[in-house]
This record gives sequence, C-alpha cells and structure tokens, in this order.
Amino acid sequence: MKPVKLGLLGVGTVGASTAMVLKNNAAEIARRAGRSIEIIQASRRSIANGMPAGCDNISLVADPFEVVDNPGVDIVIELIGGYTPALELVMRAIANGKHVVTANKALIALHGNEIFAEAQRMGVNVVFEAAVAGGIPIIKSIREGLSANIIQSVAGIINGTGNFILTEMRDKGRDFEDVLREAQQLGYAEADPTFDVEGIDAAHKLCILSSIAFGIPLQFAAVYTEGISAIATEDVVNAGELGYRIKHLGIARRTDKGIEMRVHPTLIPQKQLIANVDGVMNAVLVQADKLGPSLYYGAGAGADPTASAVVADIIDVARTITTDAQNRVPHLAFQPDQIVDIPILPITAIHTAYYLRMSVDDRPGVMAEITRIMGDKEISIEAILQKEPAAGVTRATIIMLTQKIREQQMVDAIDAIAGLAAVHGPVHRIRVETLDGD
Ligand code: HSE
Repeated sequence: MKPVKLGLLGVGTVGASTAMVLKNNAAEIARRAGRSIEIIQASRRSIANGMPAGCDNISLVADPFEVVDNPGVDIVIELIGGYTPALELVMRAIANGKHVVTANKALIALHGNEIFAEAQRMGVNVVFEAAVAGGIPIIKSIREGLSANIIQSVAGIINGTGNFILTEMRDKGRDFEDVLREAQQLGYAEADPTFDVEGIDAAHKLCILSSIAFGIPLQFAAVYTEGISAIATEDVVNAGELGYRIKHLGIARRTDKGIEMRVHPTLIPQKQLIANVDGVMNAVLVQADKLGPSLYYGAGAGADPTASAVVADIIDVARTITTDAQNRVPHLAFQPDQIVDIPILPITAIHTAYYLRMSVDDRPGVMAEITRIMGDKEISIEAILQKEPAAGVTRATIIMLTQKIREQQMVDAIDAIAGLAAVHGPVHRIRVETLDGD
C-alpha cells in the first residue's frame, strides 16, 4: 500500500518528539497502520535550528503555508499552537482536501465548530486527541469506548502544570513562581503561563470534553473559569485536616435544567483516587449510565506523552484515509445533525457544597450570628472548625463545610456574613465535590 505522507507544522517540544516517535517506532507503527507513514516536509520559524537528529532527510521550510499547499502531503500535523496563523493554516489544509491532526486545544475550543463544519463539507478528518489531557486517550475513550452510554458527568484534573505546581507547593513547600519556572523548563507550560494558572487551558479542554460527552456545540465562552493563583497554603492545610485535598478540577455535568461547565479549585475527599493524582499527571473521572464510574490516568503534558497521542491520531487517520467520509467516526462524537444546543447553566445556578474560611472577633455570639445567616439562607452546615487565636491575638479563624446547595444561596450568605461587624476581610470559599456520582 502507498505510504501516507505527512506535513508537520511546528518543530518545538511536541513537534520534535512526534518526528522522533514516527522514526523510532516506524516498523511497529506500519504494522498497526497497514502502511508506512513518513513526514515529507516540516516547517519551523527558526529554520536554522534544523530537524532533530536522524530526521535530516525531511525537507524543512520556514513558511508553514508551503507545507499545507504541498500536493504530496496527505495529512497536516498542526503543532504550532495559538490562533494565528494556526486557524488559517488548518482551514487552508482542509480546503486543499488534507486531513488534519492537531494538539491545539485553544483552536478547537474557540474555532472547532467552523473547522468541523468545513471538514465535513470537504470530507476530511480533523482529529485532536492530544488537545486534552496530554497522552491519555480520553477523547477516543469517550467518543468511541463509551458510545453506548449516556454520559452524566466528566470531572478531571486536566492541566498538568497547575497540578504540578499544587503538588510541589503542598509536598515541598516550594514557592509558586519557582515551580512554574521548572514547569516551563520541562516543556509543560503554555507559551502564556497564565493560561495554565488562571484555568484558561483547563477551560479549553473542558469545553472539548463537554461537547463530545453530551453532543453539544463547542462553547468556550460558557465555561465558568477560576484559576489556582488565589489558593492559600492555610486552605491546603485546613483541607487536609478535614480529610480533603484541593485539586484544580474541570467539571461538566448534565442536570435536569441544563449543563454545568466549570473550572475551579475544588476540595475532594482524600479517599477518592483522583484526589491522589499528583505532579504533572492528569486524570479524568467519567460517570456513564451503563458503565458507572471510570477513571483515566496518565501524563497530561510533556513531549513524548503528547506525541504519543498525536501519533495515535495519525495512525487512526491513516487507517481510514480510503474509507467513505460519511462512515468515519464523527469529529465531535455525535453525527453533525445530532449536535443539540442544551442550555449551559450560569455559575449561580450550579449545585455544589462549599468550604468557607473567615477571620472573626473571638467573642461570644459571633458564631451564632454566622449560623443564623446560614439558617436564613437555608444552608445546612456539615462541619465547623474554629482555629484558636494565637496568644495576644483577638481574632479567630472559622472554617465551615456546607452541604450541597445552589451557588446563589452561598453568594447571598457570603454577602451577609461579610457585612457583619465581627467578620474581618473577605470570606474565602472553595467548592467541594464528593465525586460519588450523585
Ligand atoms: N500546558 C498544558 C498543561 C500542556 O500543563 O497541561 C498540555 O496541554
């Protein structure tokens, strides 16, 4: 059978590793794909840096448009990242009748709807396994492995950099900036690291997971997003004392009223497997009606794990290249005319439990004032912990865990509590999820 010819856009961390995986595992890959697969042309901005050792036979150009316009290329591998010129390149590759493999979660989350519509029209494949959770085959698992099920929820640690930072801070007491620098050196962090620490990268990935789990359009703007930069060390310690870990989670949940899509720091019971996912590892917990819970765990960032997902996508496309376009696995898991616009709930309408921390005057009656407000707002308290003030200090710290309520009730209660004369500074709140499928 004719070899499949690839054009590679971007020879950075993941691009270089993809070239090496294709070269080093070429024989095994050909055994799986039923034909050989070779990169015939690559583009990189700094052309003087050349190709990785052993890949010098690949023609290297500075202009990526040369690659997408190359008539010999069957599949374009987009590993440039960002929106410009990635969007234009992908659209031109599709217009030229080429299949596309991409790791670009920002591009898919924001422009996926138009990209897939055009790919459908042209009868080409656009695949993106490496866009979510690095090397974990989570897209394929949900899209194909779980296709008999109605998916109820997806909850994941889907940013390796953020999880690496939280783990190092907790275990080694390391400074935030210092760990972030190391994540950049290791090639985990995004070009703009605020995408990692402010939850934007996780929101891109959650938007993609929600779409393939529920058969809804990609709606990045509807994902509620909070990062990890406001987490205090004392919250990490308090969570531990209460039997929880703080993780940065992306949660997508189907409810009677619509779909919750949110990314934020979350207290999870320590006994949950996902609470023990540390370092750069990612994990995604899927609740499905027939399978029940299933957990997918692996490296969420890094050169070789991400290249593993890119190359798996290349092999998938290579296998289906000669099949009828209408009978391939749909881009977003559901047939294009079956994507439905289920409402996305605003954050004030979601249901969850809460951890609260506040600094209060240490005198009789203060706790009663706070619990009265909670009662008035119909919020049931699960646990209260008072941290005694140090000698000579008149303020105590109160930690509370609530039962599950609607977020608007908590917003109203926090406003009222923060208005009490005995309460000083902001009332800190972190959402709590038991992840037991309720
Ligand atoms: N910056 C991302 C992360 C890379 O840390 O998870 C993988 O998408």
